[in-house]
Amino acid sequence: MIVCVCHRVSDRDIAIAASSGCPDFEALQDDLRVATACGACRDCACAVFEESRVEGAAPRGRGMVVVPIRLAA
Ligand code: FES
Repeated sequence: MIVCVCHRVSDRDIAIAASSGCPDFEALQDDLRVATACGACRDCACAVFEESRVEGAAPRGRGMVVVPIRLAA
């Protein structure tokens, strides 16, 4: 779904940015230019961003799992 018509930014673009570590909405605006023209998409873009950050929290931790191993003596 296109969230920002002015800059053709989709909910998926926002979710990818959020799960890639985008720290806040201002940084998202810098990255994607979402909500930087007419501003009509701001509320929706904020909601998608916050929702994506919550959903993206678990996948961001992947690859950082430490599994203890015990070597046989
Ligand atoms: S629709 Fe996003 S800035 Fe206009």
